[in-house]
Amino acid sequence: MDRTVGFILWLTGLSGAGKSTLSRALREHLSPTRAIEVLDGDEVRTWLSRGLGFSREDREENVRRIGHVARLLAKHGVCVIAAAISPYASSRDEVRRLAAEADIPFVEVFVQAPLDVLIVRDVKGLYKKALAGELAHFTGVSDPYEAPAAPDVTVHSDVDTVEAGARRVLEALRQRGLIAAFAAA
Ligand code: ADX
Repeated sequence: MDRTVGFILWLTGLSGAGKSTLSRALREHLSPTRAIEVLDGDEVRTWLSRGLGFSREDREENVRRIGHVARLLAKHGVCVIAAAISPYASSRDEVRRLAAEADIPFVEVFVQAPLDVLIVRDVKGLYKKALAGELAHFTGVSDPYEAPAAPDVTVHSDVDTVEAGARRVLEALRQRGLIAAFAAA
């Protein structure tokens, strides 16, 4: 059966780095022509991963679940945007490997911003709490974040506008033949 190929766009980065914002912008760009689904950390933790915490084991389980749902959707031609801190390289590699085994294109996007910028921004007030010692295992402060060694795309959210970041990702998708040329803004 000939049908449009789905793919998994995996956004990794610290809390507050701009993964959700970038996913929304990407959704806007892609949705006129394609079926899109966003699997966002906060929402996933409400519905799919309710009860999981932030230990290494729980984060790995969270990422495994997101990866599984992402594959199910992508198999049917959906463009899946997963946005989760996903701090461990081994988990991200596992998701990538399982996608490859299922012949699903996988694009890793590192949404990067310096920790000191995120601490100042602190939209959810969580960095303040973590720095005050009130939040254990907080990624980047009291828990590790393993930056991707070779991401397919890096978006510097402290420098790039959201639009510029989205364009960079779309260009990577286009170069891999996953989307047709995109419309100018
Ligand atoms: S992941 O590590 O398992 O991939 P996920 O992206 O689902 O994390 O959830 C991260 C969100 O949970 C953060 O954006 C933040 O709002 C919230 N959060 C609560 N506690 C923590 C913590 N200890 N570390 C990181 N994020 C936390």
